[in-house]
Amino acid sequence: MHIAVLSETVADTRVAITPETVRKYEALGGKVHIQGGAGQRAGISDQDFEQAGARVVPDAFSAVKNADIVLAVGRPTEAVIRACKPGAAIFATMDPHRANGALDVLAHAGVNAFAMELMPRITRAQSMDVLSSQANLAGYRAVIDATAEFSRLLPMMMTAAGTIPAAQVFVMGAGVAGLQAIATARRLGAIVSATDVRPATKEQVASLGGKFIAVEDEEFKAAESAGGYAKEMSGEYQAKQAELVSAHIVKQDIVITTALIPGRQAPRLVSAAMVDSMRPGSVLVDLAVDSGGNVEGSRAGEVVTTSRGVKIIGNSNISKVGTTASSLYARNLFSFVSTLIDRDQPALVIDWDDELVKSTNLTRDGAIVHPAFKGAKAN
Ligand code: NAI
Repeated sequence: MHIAVLSETVADTRVAITPETVRKYEALGGKVHIQGGAGQRAGISDQDFEQAGARVVPDAFSAVKNADIVLAVGRPTEAVIRACKPGAAIFATMDPHRANGALDVLAHAGVNAFAMELMPRITRAQSMDVLSSQANLAGYRAVIDATAEFSRLLPMMMTAAGTIPAAQVFVMGAGVAGLQAIATARRLGAIVSATDVRPATKEQVASLGGKFIAVEDEEFKAAESAGGYAKEMSGEYQAKQAELVSAHIVKQDIVITTALIPGRQAPRLVSAAMVDSMRPGSVLVDLAVDSGGNVEGSRAGEVVTTSRGVKIIGNSNISKVGTTASSLYARNLFSFVSTLIDRDQPALVIDWDDELVKSTNLTRDGAIVHPAFKGAKAN
């Protein structure tokens, strides 16, 4: 059972396997072939991988050549997908909503592609939940990034030279990333408020010591979908929300936005006028920047300083914690993949009727099989 591990794009410092999980795959009968340098930016050397039992190979093509299982963080390039053998199983965050034809390439290559971000949020799959493991770190890092750009302190301090007031931090979207941002900002001594459209978050925000702010009308009471995610809100709700947010944001020092709606453009929550209303030196972090952005004017991978001296950080900041992010991501992957391995053979034996398999499997036997993406035809 040949397992290939790929190097990620330059922008991503993560790697899909760690020495810890190499040992675990090998214990199940796997032979790990990892692309040289794949772990370098996550602080793991080729030698570390070799010591754990992996074989280091020169490039992605030699890694996938005979692979039964391919592990990656992001969707592999089309050339690498084409180089996989038919029937190979690829596990990665596939970003299927923005795949632009890549699902066809996966189907044509005859591979079984699994999108880790489609893992259902049920108890059995908690240890496989890459969205949660990565969002939690992104929420933490957003606060660190904001404080690094902020020219004041977060906690209140009483010094001989006088008292420094605590900073005001506002978190928009109180899911996994938002709740970690609230907890981190509180630990650093800020006064924290937060908003969300899902009623369940009200209590969660309060339990972390944050003040909850939201338009709590009838639409709000029904805003959570059966899957636990937010629904897209009506124009009327968005207008009321914008009014509330503009009155609140003017008093904030740091704003961290994390609002997402699965499969859709991120909601625009902070307009340029709201950014302009903030004091010079204030900082916004837009964690939704890769999905269209919550903040008007945010740009992926950049820190934009407005003419009024407000900074908007649009970093996809998970890469700044590549070592920790890799270790959690690699465990999430192993948790799922190990359930599909028959260690007696050893081989990948997939139960296609299993809920976790059905939810994540995008392509199989030359076709796109996932109900949400079937319309995107493989020709
Ligand atoms: P997400 O990353 O999809 O969205 C982030 C947050 O933005 C969400 O809380 C969402 O309600 C909020 N949001 C969306 N539109 C908004 C708007 N217009 N204004 C303000 N906020 C807005 O969400 P995430 O973090 O993936 O969590 C989604 C749900 O899944 C939550 O209920 C979470 O508790 C649940 N969950 C369950 C798990 C489990 O049972 N294993 C594990 C992780 C999360």
